[in-house]
Amino acid sequence: SILDMEVEQINKGNYEHYMQKEIHEQPESVTTTMRGRLIRGGSCKAKSVLLGGLKDHLKTIRRSRRIVFVGCGTSYNAALASRPILEELSDVPVTMEVASDLLDRQGPIYREDTAVFVSQSGETADTLNALEYASENGALCVGITNTVGSAIARHTHCGVHINAGAEIGVASTKAYTSQIVVMAMLALAIGGDTISNRARREAIIDGLCDLPNKVREVLKLDAEMKELAKLLIAEQSLLVFGRGYNYATALEGALKVKEVALMHSEGILAGEMKHGPLALVDENLPYCFTYSKQQSVIQQLHARKGRLIVMCSKGDAASVCPGDSYRVIEVPIVEDCLQPVINIVPLQLLAYHLTVLRGYNVDQPRNLAKSVTTQ
Ligand code: AGP
Repeated sequence: SILDMEVEQINKGNYEHYMQKEIHEQPESVTTTMRGRLIRGGSCKAKSVLLGGLKDHLKTIRRSRRIVFVGCGTSYNAALASRPILEELSDVPVTMEVASDLLDRQGPIYREDTAVFVSQSGETADTLNALEYASENGALCVGITNTVGSAIARHTHCGVHINAGAEIGVASTKAYTSQIVVMAMLALAIGGDTISNRARREAIIDGLCDLPNKVREVLKLDAEMKELAKLLIAEQSLLVFGRGYNYATALEGALKVKEVALMHSEGILAGEMKHGPLALVDENLPYCFTYSKQQSVIQQLHARKGRLIVMCSKGDAASVCPGDSYRVIEVPIVEDCLQPVINIVPLQLLAYHLTVLRGYNVDQPRNLAKSVTTQ
């Protein structure tokens, strides 16, 4: 009805699509995710994190034999982005499970495990079934969801709400960045505050506090990403490479491009390049390399005949890309474990603009549902 259409327009504010609105909302959504949870402390009080829904279970989590992340799609990717910092701060092995695959294999889950279920909607059937399975096997089940009162929130033993605000676009954007923020805080909460890791912890907390500003800064690449989308509009395929903290960025960037722009795209672990995927790179195929400091990238870019797009830290363009690359995207530098929050934003913008330019439905891609409640 006309009324429905008007309500929708009001909800979208000045934006044309929900996905666009949700991408641009990220400085605010990451802020609400952190609200009341970061304690910066005075001169004598150490900086710390308070996650109310977890505080009674932190001891059990620290003592667990391993932490198992379970999710689907973007939520899985967010967990993958957070895995390294959780391993570093908790000293507990962290393994990754795509929910449907855990169920297909009936993979081993033990009483000594902490299983963390990540889901925007909190209603995804595969994730919910995996939760039931892990719960039956006696694991401590932790939920990370964006929906208060959702099935996953209700059936887990404890958890953290993402508090990113309602996400309407089928393509998950702001929930992804907020999930990573929650899991960085989770890593801080699980990892004890020791003298040896204090500087690192404080740097992450400072990084979190400054994150909304950095997200605001990276959003200024909007026009540049639209220009890039114009160059890529008729392509068949886009490869996205990343490693370390940005392996997840590669997977998630590629998921956005295929999901909304309906363009074939593959996220590839850069360390695997020489073991096969590099053969695909020729002078026609565009590929994007998301890179952050400390990574020996130069040698890997020897296939420079390809149409390379490099995403690098601000100020690094000249050294990373000696002249002949196709495009350079410079992003603000943040504490390494938070870099995936920044690096995904240009790829979200690229996927958005590609979709609009190619004339596809941004908020409701064909064949997809916002939450997949059937198996
Ligand atoms: C993300 O853009 C997708 N729509 C999809 O991969 C989604 O993340 C997945 O279905 C999981 O949904 P959930 O986070 O609500 O569990």
